[in-house]
Amino acid sequence: MKPAVVFGTRPEIIKLTPVIRAFEKKGIKPLLIHTGQHYDYEMSKVFLEELELQGIDYHLEVGSGSQAEQTGKAMIKIEKVLVGEKPNVTIVEGDTNTVLAGALASVKLKIPVAHVEAGLRSFDRTMPEEINRILTDHASEVLFPPTEEAKRNLEREGITENVYVTGNTIVDAVLQNSEIAERKSRILEKLSLRPKDYILITAHRAENTDSRENLKKLVEILESFPLPTVYPMHPRTRNRLEAFGLWERVKQIEGLIVTKPLGYLDFLKLEKNAKIIMTDSGGVQEESIILNVPCLTLRYNTERPETVKAGGNVLVGLEKDRTLEYVNRLIEDRGFYEQMSNAPNPFGDGKAGERIASILLKMYKEGKLKVRRSRFI
Ligand code: UD1
Ligand code: UDP
Repeated sequence: MKPAVVFGTRPEIIKLTPVIRAFEKKGIKPLLIHTGQHYDYEMSKVFLEELELQGIDYHLEVGSGSQAEQTGKAMIKIEKVLVGEKPNVTIVEGDTNTVLAGALASVKLKIPVAHVEAGLRSFDRTMPEEINRILTDHASEVLFPPTEEAKRNLEREGITENVYVTGNTIVDAVLQNSEIAERKSRILEKLSLRPKDYILITAHRAENTDSRENLKKLVEILESFPLPTVYPMHPRTRNRLEAFGLWERVKQIEGLIVTKPLGYLDFLKLEKNAKIIMTDSGGVQEESIILNVPCLTLRYNTERPETVKAGGNVLVGLEKDRTLEYVNRLIEDRGFYEQMSNAPNPFGDGKAGERIASILLKMYKEGKLKVRRSRFI
């Protein structure tokens, strides 16, 4: 069997590594195609190194651009590789432009697409990611929703066949790396932070960073924190802060440490030891509940509602007062803190990668890994 794995951004590298490893354990070396949507050392190569993902077969160097430019460029380059390599299946994960490009290029060559982390919906079609999720799910032949709730989202859209709930591969990644992070990372010492005495924040979503008004709200939230705060900053956010003339203001915030994006081991260590995590990232919402750290999400919706229902995550939007109210409550109310920290992990047992590889291999052996004319035949 010859599976191709298409990825291009930080979270895709992290979440697909467990799938790649599972194939390798079965003696199958997947074809690795990196679109280069993320290209800075600390957004890409550091993860390839730390996760020991060697042997990328194709670096497509797509880089940044407008939505259409980036997606279109990636499609053109992925198509060329797939035509030459003729894999049996193209595996994509998540909701980035790389994912949509991989899925469209592949299905039109009649190479079936397997979508890892299928069925997530924020029900907000103004997000580029929501469009990518919907279109990728509908172009895919095999769907791996992480939870029953994600499976139900697919059912509502008429996708009921070749759907397998596997858990999320982020659990695999956390379990495989958190002990290594604990042992190897010196990030707390480096930043002079004490365990459970700081807030960890990440924010990079287009809806939070692309308008000055929203980015200013984020800055006001940062200015209000009563605890030391560390912010490993995505280049998108840094660029927008500078462009909107807000960067100098951020630099002056007392108790705020802004770093470059961090490698996975340092970031996991910071997550595990944080008092509170605040984020607009999908993966970080998931990791918070896996690592038993209360999460406040700087968005008005989430495609990870399981975290909110389980009690480990609260949507605070970009509302300073609401955010501060929760921060203070988490600091002062021990019972509430315990309750949020102990919310059960809804994302499975850390064996998602193995399940995904086994299902695809079985389908291949049974001759079922094909683009069917209709889902309903
Ligand atoms: C993308 C995904 C988003 C995901 C995020 C993971 C889409 C539509 N969005 O957002 O869902 O949460 O990746 O981090 O695919 N840049 C650099 N260096 C890099 C990469 C990006 O400087 O290595 C800067 C560029 O200015 C670029 C901007 O960040 O224009 C945005 O990058 P892009 O890949 O378009 O989207 P992300 O915000 O990273
Ligand atoms: N992450 C990291 N270093 C950082 C910030 C995030 O290693 O400085 C990891 C984080 O642990 C998670 C993933 O990157 O696994 C999330 O990626 P991101 O927030 O960029 O994307 P999203 O999940 O929102 O798509």
